[in-house]
Parts: sequence; C-alpha cells; structure tokens
Amino acid sequence: TTNLPLKGKKVLVSAGGTRERIDPVRYLTNESSGKMGHSIAEAARDLGAKVTLVTASKLEYPFGVETIPVSSAREMQEIIMKDFDTTDIVVMAAAVSDYRPKHQADHKIKKTEDDLQILLEENPDILATMGNQKNKQFLIGFAAETDRVEEYAKGKLIRKKADMIVANDVSKEHAGFNKDTNEVIIFQTNKNPIHIETKSKKEVAKDILLEAIKSIQQI
Ligand code: C5P
Repeated sequence: TTNLPLKGKKVLVSAGGTRERIDPVRYLTNESSGKMGHSIAEAARDLGAKVTLVTASKLEYPFGVETIPVSSAREMQEIIMKDFDTTDIVVMAAAVSDYRPKHQADHKIKKTEDDLQILLEENPDILATMGNQKNKQFLIGFAAETDRVEEYAKGKLIRKKADMIVANDVSKEHAGFNKDTNEVIIFQTNKNPIHIETKSKKEVAKDILLEAIKSIQQI
C-alpha cells in the first residue's frame, strides 16, 4: 500500500560508533551516538520493512526491529555480510573506525616510564566491500564532514560505489553527533543534491528512505 512502501522489503541498518579494543579495559571509539541509525531503523519499520539493526550504540533497542549488538568494525562487517544477499536496502549510518590497534593485549597494559605507542592498522571499509559485491541492493552511506561537504560526499559516492550519500556538516549546531536534530544533503549519481532542512532525526530518516524508494522505483 502507499503508506507502507517498504512492505516485503528487507532493510539493514548499521548504527553507532565502533569500539576497537586496546586491552580488556580500554578501547578506541568516536563521537557517534547511534541516534541517526536507530531513527532510520524505526522509520524503515514504520514504512513496512523487515528491519535488521546492527548497532554499536548504547541506545535502547527499537521495538519491532531485529537488533544485533556489535562492538568492533570487523564484528559489524561479519554480521552485515551474512545478511547482505537477502537485503534490499542497506543504510550504513554507523561511524566505523578507520583503524584498530594492531595488537590487542590480553592483560591490562601497565604504566611504565616510557612513552606508550599503540600501532594502528586499517579496518575494512564495509560500505566499499558491499559496493563491490552488490547486485540488487540499494546502498546508502553517510558522510560526516566539517568542510568541503559536497566534494567529499561525491567522492565517497564514486569510491564506495554507493547509490546515495547522506552528508551532514557536523560543525553545524543542529546537525551531527549526539544531536536530536539533523540537517543533511542527499547526493546521488546523476541527480541534483537534495537539501533536507533542520528537523528531528526521525523525520530526516523518513525523508531519506522516501528518497531512496523514489530512486529504486526509477531503476
Ligand atoms: O570514509 P568515511 O568514513 O567518511 O565514509 C563514511 C561512510 O562509509 C559511512 O556510511 C560509514 O558507515 C561507511 N564506512 C564503512 N566502513 C569503514 C568506514 C566507513 O562502511 N571502515
């Protein structure tokens, strides 16, 4: 029906900031709260989709959404790739750590007189991996930027072979990390950018999904 345009569709959403272990009591992470990702999962559910949420966030699990908690980027990738073949729309709202400590200590690292060095190695790019493997899937990525938003977002669209990049300027007061509102620009190949003015993350989430549905119907 028209108010359940995602009925029969499977939507996979990632959310939150991944945590990369240093030792049993320490990790590297980032400012992502998971609010945007959880809002997208809820909006997809309300539009009729069967939703899986792979979350590294501490937020409550949304009602009516299959929610799988993860911590590291590699864990997130493993769970996501398991479901990838049967998924129609993937929304990578998670802030995936680009690096992880190369060695994870089994015991708490002790203080010494010397400087401590933590060597980092690159994490897999989950969205780019999906971009290389996709067949029918519509891939939505996010870009949190502080400057040159359009240039960086368009670069990601191409490099990661995503169908849509939702960019927010995290230096703005009403957008980005841990806010309840967001203001975004939606970039797609061969389409003009679409500005979504400041509104609640739940409303922004719905707008993003409705835009994706429009584009899928045009394919
Ligand atoms: O390159 P950047 O991290 O800015 O790209 C952001 C987009 O790529 C987000 O959708 C994020 O979830 C995804 N990403 C990913 N795997 C990474 C890094 C980012 O899937 N290792």
